[in-house]
Amino acid sequence: MNAEKLGKIITFLRKQNNWTQKELANKLGISDKTVSKWETGCGLPEISFLPDLADVFNVTVDFLVSNNAVDDFALYESLVDSYTHSNRAQNKITDQIETLTDEFRGASTFDPELYEKYDVKRGLRDYNGVGVRAGLTKVSEVVGKKEVNGQIIPLEGDLFYRGYNVKDLVNNCDTEHNTGFEEAVYVLLSGKLPNFHELEAFKSSLANYRTLPNNFVKDVIMKSPTSDIMNSMARGVLALTSYDYSVNDTSLENVMRQSLKLIAVFPLLAIYSYQAYVHYRENQSLIIHNPNPRYSTAENILSLLRPDGKFTPAEARFLDACLILHAEHGGGNNSSFTTHVVTSSGTDTYSAITAALCSLKGPKHGGANLKVCQMMDDLKAHVSGYDDKDGIYSYLSDLLDGKVFDKKGLIYGMGHAVYSLSDPRAVVISDIVKDLAIEKGLEDEYKLYTDVQTFATELIAQKRKIYKGVSPNVDFYSGFGYRLLGIPDELFTPLFAIARVAGWSAHRIEELLNTTKIIRPQYIHVGTRHKYVPMNKRKK
Ligand SMILES: CC(C)(COP(=O)(O)OP(=O)(O)OC[C@H]1O[C@@H](n2cnc3c(N)ncnc32)[C@H](O)[C@@H]1OP(=O)(O)O)[C@@H](O)C(=O)NCCC(=O)NCCS
Repeated sequence: MNAEKLGKIITFLRKQNNWTQKELANKLGISDKTVSKWETGCGLPEISFLPDLADVFNVTVDFLVSNNAVDDFALYESLVDSYTHSNRAQNKITDQIETLTDEFRGASTFDPELYEKYDVKRGLRDYNGVGVRAGLTKVSEVVGKKEVNGQIIPLEGDLFYRGYNVKDLVNNCDTEHNTGFEEAVYVLLSGKLPNFHELEAFKSSLANYRTLPNNFVKDVIMKSPTSDIMNSMARGVLALTSYDYSVNDTSLENVMRQSLKLIAVFPLLAIYSYQAYVHYRENQSLIIHNPNPRYSTAENILSLLRPDGKFTPAEARFLDACLILHAEHGGGNNSSFTTHVVTSSGTDTYSAITAALCSLKGPKHGGANLKVCQMMDDLKAHVSGYDDKDGIYSYLSDLLDGKVFDKKGLIYGMGHAVYSLSDPRAVVISDIVKDLAIEKGLEDEYKLYTDVQTFATELIAQKRKIYKGVSPNVDFYSGFGYRLLGIPDELFTPLFAIARVAGWSAHRIEELLNTTKIIRPQYIHVGTRHKYVPMNKRKK
């Protein structure tokens, strides 16, 4: 290697990043004297150090070394060219982007009072936060309150899939084979409980569909791995269109077929994407197990994820219950409404479900269970022990005052837009997670959650204006349970998607069956008009 030329490359890349020699040295964990020696051509990095160097600049080792062979002028030219097209450059917020953004702000910010003036419901919600009526559905019913003589009366929460109480679906399903999710999916897609033969045939169909096309894992999933498993899944769903001979056929039968296929393969897309990520980015062994046709969805998830493929009945039972409880939640939640909107344009199933996935990944929708776990980690770091009740109470009080954790003033896992006195899903999950915590010898941690729930309910009522009551929501215990199962944080929202694709499918088919109009609400223009000015007459 030519020390002088490599030194110039390092100087160039460092300056492009606006780093001092000291800053670069800190990033590399070396002294700034060493950086200075390299840059002046008085020393060369060890060959084994080149990958780190390339990594910190976000270029390839080839780039560092190959450019080292050209003469100075050409070197400079090629550096500029390569840098302009490098990933790091494309990720930079340039001055031009900042100016454009400032101009956008100036041109597009408007007075919030205009919402009231034009009677526009922000977020499609009325002034009490209740959603505007946007559609009809027979898929599920979410109950949190009732209206008596114009007054809202809070109720214990209930959730019905096609008229069946979700608590009954969880408590009475086949806990030996953990196929409660399969039964719930059947209910959502057919509108009725399956008899024994119908359920067996349905399970066997899902097992048949639970396979990816030849080389799909290698050609699609292993490429460009990311910790954002939801985005990997979205890419996987769109890639599946290449293998479907009737992608754009929106007949109900074809959409039902596509829905079963997606419900069956979602666990594979999620787990394989995660395995690719930890292999390529975290340097762990690559584990790709095939699904077991005798296993239920919940059992397959655990066996695909774990190196030894093993799980206990209590673990599978908990996961199966979580899948049932996350499978559906009315037509107005963001991702189901997205499914309705996108479906109404006449697009294909893969596109509609990808849009729903992209909606669910938002932290205001599918990401709250992870926030609960992070908040609890932070709480543990702030208290002297699980029995430090005063410490727990004052931490929660500080949370609401926006002094700790993410400073948003929220106790995650508490409260719900529709439910008031209780979220039925949280009630069911808290019982099952308790059994799991006892099995794992972590009863004291479960007790910590119940203490937080008690104190948080009291504190939120004290510090906020609560008109309908506040209680733990489904996310309060689900993340804790997932961690008890050893499920990595990156898979929390994907697990939600594995369940919710059932609800999305039912809503898509319902939209296709009943609605022929494209969803097309109105936006009121509140800007001003301008006369076009030719280029030579504009201000310099
Ligand atoms: C889900 C959530 C957005 C519902 O909010 P909402 O529809 O306004 O519910 P409510 O009408 O009962 O809330 C009344 C007030 O209490 C506040 N509140 C409700 N839950 C709260 C919580 N967990 N932490 C702090 N404040 C809360 C609300 O922000 C609201 O205050 P505001 O009037 O100043 O806006 C809210 O409970 C929340 O942010 N929870 C934490 C995040 C979470 O767990 N999300 C997952 C939901 S499944």
